[in-house]
Amino acid sequence: MWSTNTNNIIGAIIIALWLLAGSNYIGNLVIPPFEPVYDAAANTGAAKSPAKKAPEKAAAEAGAPQTLPVLLASADAGKGKKIAKKCVACHTFDKGGKNKVGPNLYAIMGKDRASVAKFNYSGAIKKMGGKWGFEDMDQFLTKPKVFMPKTKMAFTGLKKAGDRAAVIMYLRSFADAPMALPK
Ligand code: HEC
Repeated sequence: MWSTNTNNIIGAIIIALWLLAGSNYIGNLVIPPFEPVYDAAANTGAAKSPAKKAPEKAAAEAGAPQTLPVLLASADAGKGKKIAKKCVACHTFDKGGKNKVGPNLYAIMGKDRASVAKFNYSGAIKKMGGKWGFEDMDQFLTKPKVFMPKTKMAFTGLKKAGDRAAVIMYLRSFADAPMALPK
């Protein structure tokens, strides 16, 4: 008698707990748990106090140069296409495009330097080696001959950081899977 009752009670409690846990689980599937967005105000620019603004934003307003990841995040490949008119005398960008004075640049971001087939590179770029990333591409396009002394690329460079970021976004768009942007 006693034990049957106890069993029933324990059984009822277990079922109740199980139902609770189960409904919580299903509930979380249907409606994901709420995650507070702490810096929503900073992101929308709604914050009144400068201390609450995203650091990049505050820096930009103070006239400080923006970092490359920030420039890339806001750069427009369409603008890059216009600036890249300076490159097309020597380069093609499309897949399977031919080498001209310079190598074809399809999927150049993330690619090994000096690795385009049938292009006769200078000793300078071959010696440098490594892969093309965002920071080094930015430096190369600023002044090719400073970043890579004795390169064959006879191009003075792009002075404006925003122009370089736009060109890099344009270069990046020519790829089967565009390289992830830097954080
Ligand atoms: C006057 C011709 C010329 C112009 C203009 C020019 N390039 Fe080049 N580029 C070259 C040559 C030549 C090379 C090969 C460099 C070497 O062998 O040292 C090269 C190499 C490169 C490379 C390295 C390729 C690799 O396979 O590693 C990149 C990236 C590049 N150029 C991007 C650009 C971009 C972007 C522009 C426009 C903003 C541009 N170039 C404008 C001639 C040019």
